[in-house]
Order: sequence, then structure tokens, then C-alpha cells
Amino acid sequence: MQKDLRKFCNNQLLVSPSILAADFANLADNIAEVAQAGADMLHLDVMDGHFVPNISFGVPVIKAIRSKSDLLFDTHLMISHPLQYIEAFAKAGADHITFHLECDDDPIAVINKIRELGATVGISVKPATPFKKVKDLIPLCDMVLVMSVEPGFGGQSFMHEVLGKTKEIRDYITANKLATHLQIDGGIDGNTVEYAVKSGANIMVAGTAVFKHKLGMKEAIKELKCAEKDLYL
Ligand code: DX5
Ligand code: ZN
Repeated sequence: MQKDLRKFCNNQLLVSPSILAADFANLADNIAEVAQAGADMLHLDVMDGHFVPNISFGVPVIKAIRSKSDLLFDTHLMISHPLQYIEAFAKAGADHITFHLECDDDPIAVINKIRELGATVGISVKPATPFKKVKDLIPLCDMVLVMSVEPGFGGQSFMHEVLGKTKEIRDYITANKLATHLQIDGGIDGNTVEYAVKSGANIMVAGTAVFKHKLGMKEAIKELKCAEKDLYL
């Protein structure tokens, strides 16, 4: 299993299933099944009940599943103060750490801290945050995460209005010959994936569409990967 995001190409369609939609009582089994089904990495949604109006899980859960999985841990911190917790997440086994531009800490300090600890860096923007706010930080990051729902809950509907921004970010990555990945998160399924890839996203986060697919996880991932032909590069 590849645990360094930089070893993947940013013109490759990758699937990062979010365990937020998994069965928490059988988490280790669900994770083994999703790896077997073809997941490229595992998306871990950390929520603090402050940055977002929901609480999910944190360091102890990540530490516990680390011993059960070789997948790249793609950690999405929806927390107000990432700076003071990054070390704990990195030590628990987070290979990649994405934080929100809208958090209360200085983005440059957060980026430097993540790098210092040897993890790859992602920066995430909420649906209303425009391209111009994140632009200058893109070259410093291994991934940009565009939220296609308001962060906080799984199972919401895809917001098509983020597609213009997604395209602006991809155009910037291409024009500047950057290796930065472009991830999209929220409401991604067999239908919406096409819009996401056509706008330049290459890493699809999907919770409900993978863990609750009526034909199982393998079919779910296959369905998402079908959109590879539509990649906008
Ligand atoms: C939302 C989370 C997402 C969410 C995606 O705040 O960041 O990762 O789990 O769930 P679905 O795929 O169900 O929209
Ligand atoms: Zn997420």
C-alpha cells in the first residue's frame, strides 16, 4: 500500500472513502473490506464540535485503526485550533493532514508544523471561500481540498456551485506545473463524480456512496473510478 501522497500522480483518479459512514461497531472489518475493494487511501473526518456543529472522533481512534490498516491515512481536521493537535495526529499515524483555511491559526504556521512532523499537507476551503483566498498557499501544499458540502455531516447533497472554484484551482495547478492534488469532499457518488472530475478534481472523498452502496464497496469504488475518462487535465 502507498502511504506517501507524493508518490501518486495528481492526474490520476483516486478514491478516499470516508469512514464517517462506516459501521463504527465493526470499524476494523469495514476498513479491511474497503481496502480490499480498491480504496487508494482512507479519509478520516475529525470534528471538534466548535469549527463544525458535530463531534466525530480523534486521536485514540486513529491510533487504534493504525495497527489494523496499511492504507494512507488522509486526515481531514475540521477543528478550530489545528496547530496544537497536529503532533498528536501525526504520532497517532496520520500520513497526510488537511486543515481548514478558515481555522483560527496562521495557515503558514500550520503548514510548517505538519511538514516538520513528516506528514504531507492539505489545505481545505469551505464552499463559500473563494479561490483568491487560497491561491498563494497552493504551491506550499500537497493537496487542496474543496468542500462540496458545508463541513460537519455526511450524507448531504453535492453543491454544484463549487465547481467553478474547483476549475480555477486546477487551472492554477496546471499553469504552475505543480504536483498538488485536488480533492473534493461531500455528496460524491456515481452521478456527481462526473461533474467533480470534469472540473479538475482528482481525489474523490466518498462516505455514504462507498460504505452504504447497495451493491457493496467494490462496486461503489468501481462506479467512482469509471469517471477516470472524464478527468479534466
Ligand atoms: C463532511 C466530511 C465528509 C463526509 C462525506 O464534513 O468532511 O468527508 O464524510 O460524506 P458523504 O460522502 O456522505 O457526503
Ligand atoms: Zn472530509
